[in-house]
Amino acid sequence: MTRDKKKLHTWYLENKRPLPWRENKNPYFIWISETMLQQTTTKAVIPFFNRFIKKFPTLKSLANATTEEVIEAWAGLGYYSRARNLHKAAIILNQKKQFPTDYQELIQLPGFGPYTSRSVSSIAFEQPVGVIDGNVIRLLTRKHNLPIEWWKTKERKILQDLSDKYVIGFKSSEINQALMELGATICTPKKPSCLLCPWLKSCDANKNNTIQSLPLKKAKAAKKLLLWKVYKPKNSTSKLILVRNNYAPFLKKQWLFPGSVKEIKTRPKSYDCLHHITKYDIYVQIKSKTRKELETISKKSEIIVIDKNEIKKFSPSSVLQKILDH
Ligand code: ADE
Repeated sequence: MTRDKKKLHTWYLENKRPLPWRENKNPYFIWISETMLQQTTTKAVIPFFNRFIKKFPTLKSLANATTEEVIEAWAGLGYYSRARNLHKAAIILNQKKQFPTDYQELIQLPGFGPYTSRSVSSIAFEQPVGVIDGNVIRLLTRKHNLPIEWWKTKERKILQDLSDKYVIGFKSSEINQALMELGATICTPKKPSCLLCPWLKSCDANKNNTIQSLPLKKAKAAKKLLLWKVYKPKNSTSKLILVRNNYAPFLKKQWLFPGSVKEIKTRPKSYDCLHHITKYDIYVQIKSKTRKELETISKKSEIIVIDKNEIKKFSPSSVLQKILDH
């Protein structure tokens, strides 16, 4: 294994991409980048990261922001519970004398799962723990020819143990990023560039001709269909009533137009627009109401009245603007 590790390490030092969060070892930058990288590719994350760091250059500035400001800076990345947890964790971290270095301590914080805790503690502080993400799963199941159901706890542990072994004897910040980088740039899902891979000769999947069938694929859960009846103001009023969402299973706790949601089995005959998110296909029926009607409908909810051009500030999801423009 040492030979393979050396090859990987050398390959990484020669091929690593110059990414903004790699410029120094600031744990705050590394934490923000790793949280963003869980949902999208490196290339897509760069502009979001730069914008976010410009707005919140330090842990303290993030801790002192309002949740709304954090959500606004997160706009476009999706998974807004991550932004809420980021803010909660920033408040806790800001009260500590220093950023915790140990992954066991980090994992106690809101939003810090095994991936974030391990990546931050290794990349920022060289803690000897391995990380696994989608790229590493693909890379290691191929390298070791492992047709395992990696989404199951026991099988995942096999990969976790394997990645923990990879960091032994090397800087974990470099080996972890090397594994992720090799998975992201060479050992890609459909057309891996095996001829450029430092592990070409030692790759078990390459020897066994199993690259295309690895990693095993998890059957996707069928999407649920939802019918969202949503109420927007009649006419061209410039004021909007938003309620703190306690009625829809998506965009939880966020500011939304008042409405109601129910699960349906088949596509409705008529709807105004369709909104796709990870778990749901949402059929939207838009109804226009007077200000008085809207106030009655929203009576039982926490509400705010905002200006039309403030939508983005209060709701990062594009769906409210889509409804308004309809
Ligand atoms: N994907 C997620 N985090 C990464 C990192 N630090 N380097 C390369 N790819 C990544």
